[in-house]
Amino acid sequence: MTEVPSAKSAPANGEALCRVESLSTHFPVNRGPFRKGGVVRAVDRVTLEVHPGETVGLVGESGCGKSTLGRTLLRLIEPTAGKIFFEGRDITKLSASEMRPLRRRMQVIFQDPYASLDPRMSVRDTVAEALEIHGLAKSEKDANDKVASLLEKVGLRPDQMDRYPHEFSGGQRQRVGIARALAVDPRFIVADEPISALDVSIQAQIVNLLKDLQEELGLAYLFIAHDLKVVEYLSHRVAVMYLGRVVETAPSRELYDDPRHPYTRALLSAVPVPDPETRRARIVLQGDVPSPLDPPSGCSFHPRCSIAEKGLCDREAPPLVQLKKRPTQWVACFKAEES
Ligand SMILES: Nc1ncnc2c1ncn2[C@@H]1O[C@H](COP(=O)(O)OP(=O)(O)OP(=O)(O)O)[C@@H](O)[C@H]1O
Ligand SMILES: [Mg+2]
Repeated sequence: MTEVPSAKSAPANGEALCRVESLSTHFPVNRGPFRKGGVVRAVDRVTLEVHPGETVGLVGESGCGKSTLGRTLLRLIEPTAGKIFFEGRDITKLSASEMRPLRRRMQVIFQDPYASLDPRMSVRDTVAEALEIHGLAKSEKDANDKVASLLEKVGLRPDQMDRYPHEFSGGQRQRVGIARALAVDPRFIVADEPISALDVSIQAQIVNLLKDLQEELGLAYLFIAHDLKVVEYLSHRVAVMYLGRVVETAPSRELYDDPRHPYTRALLSAVPVPDPETRRARIVLQGDVPSPLDPPSGCSFHPRCSIAEKGLCDREAPPLVQLKKRPTQWVACFKAEES
């Protein structure tokens, strides 16, 4: 196994659009009047990259740090340590005004479009505002034309632009959220559970819209989701997080066919598969996710792991390393090669 990532040896070829190196985001928390404050290691030394036109799926149980990672790499939350690169440039320490021109190129789509849209603003104003902030509309007419074409792009009718968010269904509101993100012509979008709040019947439409837009516009996504089937469908590569750390990352096919981290195996064993031949034995994870305020010693997964070795896994944290037999797969487990 090879020791992890310098920038050059990270998990894919070519120039990354967005890359984070050993990125940490810790939140100081006050644990109450008689107890000392602690630190939540929401994101802990994560190295990850997203390439132009690529979708990287980010999965893991609730609270493992997915949203915090997504927001930190957009510089919406300040990192505690590590580096963030965008289009090859180190943006970790850029000021708000230095970030402004870059904000156009990196956008976010949220889980709950209702919460992220201003109820007092029409769709026209919502989308036009994004254009205006970045000086992308020459005149009111130009703004209107652009809004109309963006609405068409996301499957809404231009004549719906004077409506307000409450006049739309959940799926349509998410389309508005996507139109607003696209207005500024981004290259990279963090989609933070963009379909979780939608009816199941609508989810596939939004997923397919995201996929079509990617093909048409060459977008790159960091796609955060709980639904592993959807992640498999959309993602070129997948990163699995556990308690703030990436424990496995690989091209989707490899990760789904041959997961090497016991946590990834447990997650995937819970996914229903129609074909009994390929069905995996269900691995039930014992216990809850430990508190990120007080993570276990050694490998933070060891208390729930069926193959953990005493004296090893409870002592030392395994680094994320390249598999010998499959160098595109990176796993943080001492037993990754054997089991
Ligand atoms: N502003 C904050 N202050 C303190 N702790 C925080 C803050 N934001 C997030 N956390 C904590 O950081 C950890 C990671 O949270 P995060 O929201 O990133 O997880 P997540 O993987 O997105 O979860 P979910 O799947 O539920 O959306 C959690 O323990 C959370 O309670
Ligand atoms: Mg989240």
